[in-house]
Amino acid sequence: TSTVRVSPAVLGFAAVAKNLNDVVTVPAGYTVTVLTRLGDPLAAGVSAYSNNGTDGDFDKRIGDHGDAFAFYGLSAAGARDDNSNTRGLMVQNHENLSVQYLHPNGPTNVSSGPRPQAEALKEMMAHGVSITEYVDAGNRKWGYVPNSPLNRRITPGTQMQFAGAAAASAMLRTAYSPDGTRGRGTINNCAHGVTPWATYLTAEENWAGYFRRDNSGSGTDNTLRSPEELVALRRYGVNSNTGNYAWSTVQSADTLYTRWDARVKGASAVEDFRNEPNQFGWVVELDPYDPNSTPRKRTSLGRFGHEGAFVQAAAGKKLAVYMGDDARREYLYKFVSSATFTEADGRSANRLAMGDKYLDTGTLYVARFEADGTGRWLPLVFGQVPDRPATSNTPAYSFADQADILINARLAGDALGATPMDRPEWTAGNPLTGEIYLTLTNNNASNRPLNDTNAANPRHYNDPYGPANRAQYGNPNGHIIRLRENGDDPAATSFRWDIYLFGADSADAGPNVNLSGLTAENDFSSPDGLYFSRETNPAGKVKPLMWIQTDDGALSDRTNNMMLAAMPGSVGDGGAQTITNTGADGATATQTTFVGAPATVATLRRFLVGPVECEITGIDTTPDGRTVFVGIQHPGEDGTPDAPSSNWPDTQGNANAPATARPRSAIVAITKDDGGVIAL
Ligand code: FEO
Ligand code: CA
Ligand code: CA
Ligand code: CA
Repeated sequence: TSTVRVSPAVLGFAAVAKNLNDVVTVPAGYTVTVLTRLGDPLAAGVSAYSNNGTDGDFDKRIGDHGDAFAFYGLSAAGARDDNSNTRGLMVQNHENLSVQYLHPNGPTNVSSGPRPQAEALKEMMAHGVSITEYVDAGNRKWGYVPNSPLNRRITPGTQMQFAGAAAASAMLRTAYSPDGTRGRGTINNCAHGVTPWATYLTAEENWAGYFRRDNSGSGTDNTLRSPEELVALRRYGVNSNTGNYAWSTVQSADTLYTRWDARVKGASAVEDFRNEPNQFGWVVELDPYDPNSTPRKRTSLGRFGHEGAFVQAAAGKKLAVYMGDDARREYLYKFVSSATFTEADGRSANRLAMGDKYLDTGTLYVARFEADGTGRWLPLVFGQVPDRPATSNTPAYSFADQADILINARLAGDALGATPMDRPEWTAGNPLTGEIYLTLTNNNASNRPLNDTNAANPRHYNDPYGPANRAQYGNPNGHIIRLRENGDDPAATSFRWDIYLFGADSADAGPNVNLSGLTAENDFSSPDGLYFSRETNPAGKVKPLMWIQTDDGALSDRTNNMMLAAMPGSVGDGGAQTITNTGADGATATQTTFVGAPATVATLRRFLVGPVECEITGIDTTPDGRTVFVGIQHPGEDGTPDAPSSNWPDTQGNANAPATARPRSAIVAITKDDGGVIAL
């Protein structure tokens, strides 16, 4: 592992002002280059993207809604080279669709069908993961290689293998895999993780909505095998009467389509789709360097709405994976390997076997944040998890075995008394201290009411500055919490925590709002992406430099989404604070929490503002820190095919982009004009 040395922490760029422009804005002295965009070809013979809704072949093109990604260095011979600054494989998640732009005049019968088969196939194939070779033509003139043999698409149709403690469970048996060992595809891939043996972890987040399965508890949509099955369907939100994009309404017997209707449709096993939703909600490991490898669903990491999977690995210690479950009132999880990590394993060429070693055997925990600034990791281990109590509309749930606990990890977290959080998004580790940061993007009044705050999710207030017609009570701007494991041991079962930053509009003078002292140069809302820059650059100057990306509602009337650079302190650099919350009816309640040192413009500064209606998500840097890659997701997501609300990326560096140009998610490279290290 590299030695971490710290130079004086100074951010060396002028803050970018909040704005609503339809371009990516960066500080003076920096340049933006648009790289791979929605639809760009990934194989020889695939036509250039016409971007008018007529393109097909999305199993050979960059998918839609690019989310997290990571850059895997390549040597001149095309092999793994962690130190390459000039060539690599960009592995990117494709979370969802701006479906209106994928067809000439928008989608046909998208809400309830029947869907045309070609449209549904295109939409399906625009999901998943892409692997694309990137090359620097000299002096950070980045481009990509459309016909590289290393390019690959992984889609909802790609064969997967189930691995870990739930593999071959009866709950994973499907028509596709009668023994429950194989899975078909991946969906709604959000954030990610990078292992020390250079594989990529892709996280399946909002998979539940893609399935048709009424969970009202009555009627023909439910052929429940037990009352407990209903508990699980409700807890995971599998409740749609159509499924996203109504793919199951395609008039085809192909299970690529019929599988999205998660009911029993006939008498035979091949017509029973009730276990299809159990195929999703996992962390999936793939080997970017081997285009023929079969991705593995790592079931020991649990099944939920996986946002991402930050891997903390240090030689001589157990390996830990920190994972948020992004929905309101969901939990933070940690997996700890049974094996002790060695650097030699990090260099192994047998990469997926390293995943077998470190990600299949171990213990999954869920976090409980205590009111005194400590916390505990509660083990999700069969025999140690009590029955999940009955609720107002479901009976109690008792677990059958460890596979049941992993498949229904949310229920196990409920039973153990985990702390309900304000939407856990990305996790990231400070390479200097080992401290783990977690973005809690926001929450609303019904899920974070005045009298149901806790120390780790302490706020309830109104944001009067947000857009009209949007519920603003609750925690509309979110916060970033951090924790330090006891003994700095990733395997610890207890920790200390505080809240590093509270999102806020700096113009809001409410008493419990701008608790981090934000100003116009660094105010933000709804943190989501989170990343620490790589530890090394050639000069050996190393800084713990953190990047924060936003997916914002409450500030959207005054700025597009943004990315900030931060040089954070450490858990405990602030102190206890009691705040007064205010509800819609004027009632008040106090809540004590632990607040980090206030932000300063020296240590937190806005670096980038994105185009109209985008979210900023996805970031990596080259090892030398001289290129930062940033993801622009769903620009113009509220527009129509005839009247796009954004024309990005055509607008980047081009004031005359046609107003009819359809927007495209894309990765950009940002470089410093003097060739220096970004942000310093
Ligand atoms: Fe896909 Fe929670 O962001
Ligand atoms: Ca996210
Ligand atoms: Ca988000
Ligand atoms: Ca998104």
